[in-house]
Amino acid sequence: MPDQYAVIGNPVEHSKSPLIHAAFARQTGHDLAYDLLLAPIHKFVVTADAFRARGGRGLNVTLPFKAEATRYATTLSARARAAQAVNTLKFDHEIIFGDNTDGAGLVRDLIDNLGCAIAGQRVLLLGAGGAARGVIDPLLQQHPAQFVLANRTLDRAQQLAQSLHGALEASSYAALANRQFDLVVNATSASLAGELPPLPRGVYAPGALAYDMMYGKGETPFLAFARGESAALLADGLGMLVEQAAESFFVWRGVRPESAPVLKLLRESGHV
Ligand code: ATR
Repeated sequence: MPDQYAVIGNPVEHSKSPLIHAAFARQTGHDLAYDLLLAPIHKFVVTADAFRARGGRGLNVTLPFKAEATRYATTLSARARAAQAVNTLKFDHEIIFGDNTDGAGLVRDLIDNLGCAIAGQRVLLLGAGGAARGVIDPLLQQHPAQFVLANRTLDRAQQLAQSLHGALEASSYAALANRQFDLVVNATSASLAGELPPLPRGVYAPGALAYDMMYGKGETPFLAFARGESAALLADGLGMLVEQAAESFFVWRGVRPESAPVLKLLRESGHV
């Protein structure tokens, strides 16, 4: 029987992960099965336990279980601990290893696919929820010249900045007026609701990159706004999705698949 993997979430039927991991398995010649695993909202642990009992080797974890998966793991990677969110579980007998590949996926998409260096750049991250927390540390490790986190509820941004001992600067949206950034990453859930984070005009430096971690929503209000400003490059989160999957595949299988052909396949097949 091939090794069993799955993505656990609720809802989960929209997930592109089975398609992506099937492509990685074909490409690397690994014999594995990757399915969708719907867990009832209050039954994450029993559903994951049952999967392990059936011989499951690993899970990707999506909303709303990323925090619960952090508590489920017996060992955490440093990046999962920093994010307090797990998107990858690896099962090895009694050991449940929890990792977070989201931030690494974003950084790889920015640098390798979009040719956007982060080092020395002025970076603005929008949002202070789980999605933002997952990418802060990997972005900081690239040594941006400035790192500002803006959130609608300023208090949440300030708490995050405090917990990181001032490694980033917390800001309200209004206080961004008259400042400019080379990279603006939207980690809010605004795009899900078709809403625009209240960015003042003029925050995009000439040639800046606007990155929405959301995908599959067409041009979001965030990207449409950036198009009308000085942003030179607009990107959705599909590249990040494929890159975090490649990093999870590496955690499980010790082999790093090539992501570019899979990203191309997804874009061209109209799956997203
Ligand atoms: P997730 O785990 O996906 O990050 P979350 O913890 O609910 O979800 O966080 C959602 C984030 O999107 C928050 O930063 C939220 O801002 P608040 O902390 O002020 O609630 C942000 N958000 C949601 N809708 C928004 C909007 N229309 N404009 C700006 N920020 C928004």
